[in-house]
Amino acid sequence: MKLPSRPQDKIIIALDVPDTDGALRLLDSLGEPPALCKIGLELFTAEGPSVIKAVRSRGCEIFLDLKFHDIPNTVAHAVKSAAGLGVAMTTLHAVGGPVMMEAAAKAAVGTDLLILAVTVLTSMDSAQLVSTGITVEPREQVLRLAGLASGAGIGGIVCSPLEITTIRESYGEKLRIVTPGVRPTWAAVGDQKRVMTPSEAVKAGSDWLVIGRPITAAESPMEAYAKIVEELAS
Ligand code: C5P
Repeated sequence: MKLPSRPQDKIIIALDVPDTDGALRLLDSLGEPPALCKIGLELFTAEGPSVIKAVRSRGCEIFLDLKFHDIPNTVAHAVKSAAGLGVAMTTLHAVGGPVMMEAAAKAAVGTDLLILAVTVLTSMDSAQLVSTGITVEPREQVLRLAGLASGAGIGGIVCSPLEITTIRESYGEKLRIVTPGVRPTWAAVGDQKRVMTPSEAVKAGSDWLVIGRPITAAESPMEAYAKIVEELAS
């Protein structure tokens, strides 16, 4: 997938709504359609592939965020299905392991699909990791998983903005980086814990920013969107 050149194309709008009507209303409230929208578990489980068609008809490419984690054969076929839907990006959990990731990467060969490996969810802290048997610090685990993803031929990762610099230091431009947890100074932080502003995240080396509530819950989504684009452009 080509890297975005215009500032507005670095923003992926998270369509965290329960149905297609809500997704289209949200898109229409933005004025100009964004280059990329994220469809996640809630919306896809409710509406299925038809929501992808509906959102694409508004001129947006799709980041299908279903975070696959299963045996290699199953994940490879799921990746083929995602490619068949014509989405631009999809996700899997890096903890599925190198063999699963290699099978996924192979399944996407010959397509334009960018597979992103989710490293450590931003909702996990050290205590949560320890309870699952992982005793290293989250940052170390992120680095380890990014290394496995890169070695397996996966094109990019999803990580918190605070980990971008470490990943770039270790992997240069080999991995695309997508970061949620982005908050402009004027927006509520909400339940996100480890945040950066949009321009800080891009400066640190993020290729795309996933942004939900700072835009979608704003009084005027169009104004909030324009304000963030302006911040990125300056
Ligand atoms: O509303 P907000 O900007 O926090 O939305 C961020 C989006 O990114 C949500 O769809 C959320 O599920 C997703 N996400 C996240 N942290 C991760 C992975 C995905 O916030 N580690």
